[in-house]
Amino acid sequence: QLVLDLLESSGQISDTRCLTIPGQSSPAGSHDAQITILGALNSLLSREMIKYTTHETLSHVLTPEGAQCVLEGSHEARVWAALHTKGEGKPLTAPELKKVVGDDAAKVGQGRAFKSGWIAKEGDGFVKLVPTIEDTTQLDLREVDSTGTLKAGEKTLADLRKRKLIIQRKGQWFTVEKGANFSTSTAKPETDLTVEMLTSGAWKTSTFKKYNFEAEGIPTNGGALHPLLKVREEIRNIFLEMGFAEMPTSSFVESGFWCFDALFVPQQHPAREVQDTFYLSDPSQSLPPHAPYLATVARTHEHGGFGSTGYRAPWSDAETRKLLLRTHTTASSASMLYKLAAKCRGEEVDEEIDAVLGGSAKTKTAGNLGKGEKTDDGFRPAKLFSIDRVFRNETMDATHLAEFHQVEGVVADRNLTLADLIGFMRVFFKKMGIENVRFKPAYNPYTEPSLEIFAFHPMLDKWVEIGNSGMFRPEMLEPMGFPKDVRVHGWGLSLERPTMIRYGINNIRTLVGHKVSIEGVENSPAVIF
Ligand code: PHE
Repeated sequence: QLVLDLLESSGQISDTRCLTIPGQSSPAGSHDAQITILGALNSLLSREMIKYTTHETLSHVLTPEGAQCVLEGSHEARVWAALHTKGEGKPLTAPELKKVVGDDAAKVGQGRAFKSGWIAKEGDGFVKLVPTIEDTTQLDLREVDSTGTLKAGEKTLADLRKRKLIIQRKGQWFTVEKGANFSTSTAKPETDLTVEMLTSGAWKTSTFKKYNFEAEGIPTNGGALHPLLKVREEIRNIFLEMGFAEMPTSSFVESGFWCFDALFVPQQHPAREVQDTFYLSDPSQSLPPHAPYLATVARTHEHGGFGSTGYRAPWSDAETRKLLLRTHTTASSASMLYKLAAKCRGEEVDEEIDAVLGGSAKTKTAGNLGKGEKTDDGFRPAKLFSIDRVFRNETMDATHLAEFHQVEGVVADRNLTLADLIGFMRVFFKKMGIENVRFKPAYNPYTEPSLEIFAFHPMLDKWVEIGNSGMFRPEMLEPMGFPKDVRVHGWGLSLERPTMIRYGINNIRTLVGHKVSIEGVENSPAVIF
């Protein structure tokens, strides 16, 4: 306000060292006062109310020793004051003098007082020669303290510097003039033109803040992909680059038929009990499956066939039609495989599988028969995958939820072997960044042989199970209508496990559900290896 008022009355301020800041203890022209003024000038400059020019100065300030001289007199004055006048008392010896005025003052002061003719030697001591002195050093230091310089000039300043009583300091002072938005009001400039300003006419006299085109602006608040979605995309890309087509997996609700029976899971299997599977109460029953296929599946379960003895346990139609939340995406794979085999059963090519695989199934003529292929039995090789949600009636803990995602790959071709499955999985997991894999014989009701997949986890320093796989049983494939030489292998894994490992999450409830940290989701990297 002081700056603005002065500008208003005198048009400009030629030297800010003349300003006395109200309520400030530092004297006008002092270094501290100029620092305070600079702060005010910059704030006024940002609103273009003023313009200023900086001038550099070299000024002097007292050292602590210099300040002591201002208070107690110079060293030479202190020496003089400590002595008795000649003839009036006992001369002080050098050690006695040191005791009174201190080492430093005695050392420096003695010589100077001598030179000025203030003291003289008497015997082995010192006495005063003059009754009064003028302590010019003290006076000079006072002048430096209040003005930052000396009228006496550089020679004296250099002397005081040599005595380490003052030091040089760079200083600044300013000349100030009015800026484009000059006004004596320090009210904050407006940032918005409002309806009120327009109607009242206040806009005419208001000052407006200029747009700052250099400003970075507020960070935009865009959407962010959840880690599960990022890893899903990554895995989906691996499947796609390996030539797989994505199966539709939108039916979370399946029948016991597709989830279990078509896969040759016995109707008495513990996985089908309510502790493991969520059943629907309304509606509770699916429509009956395709009758001839249902009959074949039922017969295979009960009495065997296709080289199998079957389970030789009673078959229940009610069990097969129970609606449930699918416990694995293999339910969707089974229904897709059934569609893939449509032509093998002598039916029309299934439209859905045709759309998934792209283009129409080629008919094998004598010209395009592959080596070893006999007649066109309607079979079309397929590589299919899915990544979607499954549900299990499990007790929830740090690593289990009642719903999670399964990643599943299925390959159907003639004469596939277990080595093909293992080879596929090695390539697949390597693309996921997992090189060190091992396979362990396992049991699945629908695959034989079955393999569990283990990966070495360097952070945990142990082998962890990462998936399950196998060759689908003939009891599952042949009732669908696949020719005998067609083998189908598949593997499945959860999406959550690799995601947790990648993002270093050890409690699944911080990955899914209300405890998910939105900030964590926004800040987690897109890809982690
Ligand atoms: N469905 C199996 C599971 O839930 C995974 C699997 C898929 C196994 C395909 C073999 C073949 O773990």
